Amino acid sequence: MASLSLPTVESIREQFPILQHPDSHGRDVVYLDNGASTQKPQCVIDKEVEVYTKYYANAYRGVYEFGQRIDDELELSRESVRDLIGAESKEEIIFTAGTTMSLNLLAYAWGSHVLEPGDEIILSRMEHHANIVPWQLIAQKTGATIRYVPLDDQYRFDEQAFEQILNSRTKIVSLTGMSNVLGATIPVSQVAEAAHSVGAVFILDAAQSVLHQPADVMKQGVDFLAFSGHKIYGPSGVGVLYGKQELLEQMPPFLGGGHMIDQVFDDHSTWAAAPAKFEAGTLPIAQAIALRPAIEFIKEIDFDWIEKHEKKLLIRATEQLQEIPGLKIYGPDVSEKGAIVSFTLEGAHPQDLAFLLNRHGVCVRHGHHCAMPLHEILGVSATVRASFGLYNTVEEVDKLTEAIHQARKKLRLA
Ligand code: ALA
Repeated sequence: MASLSLPTVESIREQFPILQHPDSHGRDVVYLDNGASTQKPQCVIDKEVEVYTKYYANAYRGVYEFGQRIDDELELSRESVRDLIGAESKEEIIFTAGTTMSLNLLAYAWGSHVLEPGDEIILSRMEHHANIVPWQLIAQKTGATIRYVPLDDQYRFDEQAFEQILNSRTKIVSLTGMSNVLGATIPVSQVAEAAHSVGAVFILDAAQSVLHQPADVMKQGVDFLAFSGHKIYGPSGVGVLYGKQELLEQMPPFLGGGHMIDQVFDDHSTWAAAPAKFEAGTLPIAQAIALRPAIEFIKEIDFDWIEKHEKKLLIRATEQLQEIPGLKIYGPDVSEKGAIVSFTLEGAHPQDLAFLLNRHGVCVRHGHHCAMPLHEILGVSATVRASFGLYNTVEEVDKLTEAIHQARKKLRLA
């Protein structure tokens, strides 16, 4: 990939082929749906093409040249994930289909391993459904109870309330690192320490946060962590589950099949060591391999640059949007959140508004964003969400604002 030693947003945009052409209506695309999925730089696309055109084979099965190359590339990718999140060993990195699969794996495998009737699982009121529903399913099976940490009046994670809810029956604390609706974050190290003080494990849903506030699992005391490739400029179809080695040793497998066994007998089987124990069947091979250039790409740009750039966009968007009559933003102060602005506009249904914004090429998400319990608290069934990425520009923020003004006129609100 091209060197990005002195990144500018223009030099970054050049790396993304999809940003180089208008949509089919000839509109410049203002892509502000990065919380849902990010676009892909050329190096990620090239890597997938390289795999399929130069050495594709199944993984961990063939001793022939292609098979060996695939295994080596996968291990390099595992190592880059280890480095990204500060894990001790690459054997603690499991490739999955995405965050949802990682959290379901944990709920079934770890949940059914540790939960007894009366035990408690702690979630927060700002979780994505992927960090609620799997726990409901396992709670129903095991007789455990789910307890929710409330948000304070500024839509922040209420740390004091969390500490009050924690007790000796708490076995699992599973929290998002950054709300996909509010942009609100959590104090990861403090939460992990508090969870450990009652003997619970701490799971971090890092789907939204890993890019903005990279985890440091060993330093922060994170026991398990999940994220998706497609939200960090990498391929879709691949995700990561990190687990501390001693916990992965204790945790039974979730899916049975090829590659995850040591020996198979007629009536029982024994397991391979992690990560293979949790990687039954054929992996998303090319996607997992192409996760490495995505990680290298963002590391080369530099997390500080990304944070500052996205904060600038967030501040500009917030300042402009809060001046629009009838527009309400949901979330903490910009100083305490990631680059996400969710809002409603009085008199406009979020779906209509998203549709009208797209007439100006602006791409945003509308709806409950897979966070219905949170929207219940917000008192609305849906919001419109603009979520910024490293290739967005201040001009694009201005286009969002202008498009909202135009939509207000169209809806006769202005
Ligand atoms: N979880 C993704 C979002 O927030 C899909 O849009």
